[in-house]
Amino acid sequence: MIPKMPKLPSIRRGFKAPRGTRDILPEDQQYWHHVRKHATDVSRRYNYQRIDTPVFEDAALFVRSVGEDTDIVEKEMYTFEDKGGSLLTLRPEGTGSICRAYLEHGMGNLTKPVRLYYFCPVFRYERPQAGRYRQHHQFGVEAIGSADAAMDAEVISLAWDLLSDTGIPPDKLTLHINSIGCLQCRPAYITALKKYFKEEYEYEGPGCRDCQRRLELNPLRLMDCKEEACQKIADLAPKSTEYLCPECEDHHTKLQHYLEALGLSFSDDYRLVRGLDYYTRTVFEIRPWKTTAQSAIVGGGRYDYLIEQLGGPPTPAVGFGAGLERIILNLQWLQIDVPKPEPRLVVLAYLGERPKEGALWLADQLRKEGIPAEVAVGRDSLRSQLRYANTVGAKYAIIIGDEEIETNTVTLRDMAESQQERIPVLEVAQVLCARLGIESSDQAEQPESTA
Ligand code: HAM
Repeated sequence: MIPKMPKLPSIRRGFKAPRGTRDILPEDQQYWHHVRKHATDVSRRYNYQRIDTPVFEDAALFVRSVGEDTDIVEKEMYTFEDKGGSLLTLRPEGTGSICRAYLEHGMGNLTKPVRLYYFCPVFRYERPQAGRYRQHHQFGVEAIGSADAAMDAEVISLAWDLLSDTGIPPDKLTLHINSIGCLQCRPAYITALKKYFKEEYEYEGPGCRDCQRRLELNPLRLMDCKEEACQKIADLAPKSTEYLCPECEDHHTKLQHYLEALGLSFSDDYRLVRGLDYYTRTVFEIRPWKTTAQSAIVGGGRYDYLIEQLGGPPTPAVGFGAGLERIILNLQWLQIDVPKPEPRLVVLAYLGERPKEGALWLADQLRKEGIPAEVAVGRDSLRSQLRYANTVGAKYAIIIGDEEIETNTVTLRDMAESQQERIPVLEVAQVLCARLGIESSDQAEQPESTA
């Protein structure tokens, strides 16, 4: 039983998808298919393995990984107690879950780096707007077990290739990178930041309410506040790159060289700090050219202490998450066409009960050969069945009447040409496969697993 069920709304008002969530309708699916296909292809090209984790996890996992003083943990998590009394959270990001799975399944024993990719729905209680939802979907990769800056470059290059493979022109994207140091050098930077902001607040007046709170709890985030007045102060703040220890500085310089070697242009963005606490050294974002800083399509970075914080051995790692909705929005804004499925549908029309049985049987045979086929059920007249075939965009109609049954033939109608021909029923599948460019099951080789 659902506890404390609220009063049911009047059915006349109907139900709506919860605020900040969206239905992905059949007409949108071509975009989703397009992006997922390219994400899978690029992951395979870089030799990443697919991993899937549960939609919800122990709430403490995200508090530990994302960080107690982050917006996500403070304000945005969907956390609930289940009937067994466990405190669970709908996944507010992918990395914590992947690291938990990495440790739980002993992946540390595998040859490193362990390269993983995933698709997952992500839940954050945010203020909804274009490109920002309470349920969104991410494609992400995590490369676990290497501290080499070349690994950061590989992950960035994979993200870049994904976006260009989907059709977004590279000149419509910008890559921002920064280094926020490690546990050794960051404390000095944080001290300098606090000092600077305190002095500025005395002189300029206090920052926004979030910044005032962050000054003590999470000063790094003062750098990426979206309020205009706070941004002006952050613009002149000390830069993290000025406080890097020699190892972090070397890592950052190497990354810049590797990106140059890969032909990837980037801008050094000292205001880029990212909103999750686990990052060390490299942080990066890919943003659409000419839009607000909020609209990163890809965000990621290195997280060299996270696995240790979750109870594992010291294990450096780097990865990114890309919002599928944001990739699709950018494709649509830029009016980039995605391939539409070829019209291949065959609709079977019938005249009478026996031909209807024949149509059901034949549709089944065609589907077994890989031909999309539908019987025009629920319509009696041939006219309305053919009208239906036209409306659903059928390429061919097959008409079966008593005469066709007697002669073991069918009438094949090309819908666009309005031309008909009679062909033996045993040849229909072969003829259609040839005309629709489908490999029949006789010719087809064993399909590759798509799991
Ligand atoms: P994130 O920057 O929070 O990073 O999210 C990654 C991407 O998810 C963003 O760049 C954006 O495209 C998309 N995204 C985030 N929030 C929303 C939202 N409310 N609505 C629509 N899209 C959104 C992470 O989640 C890290 N786990 C990335 C990572 C992986 N870092 C290392 N490994």
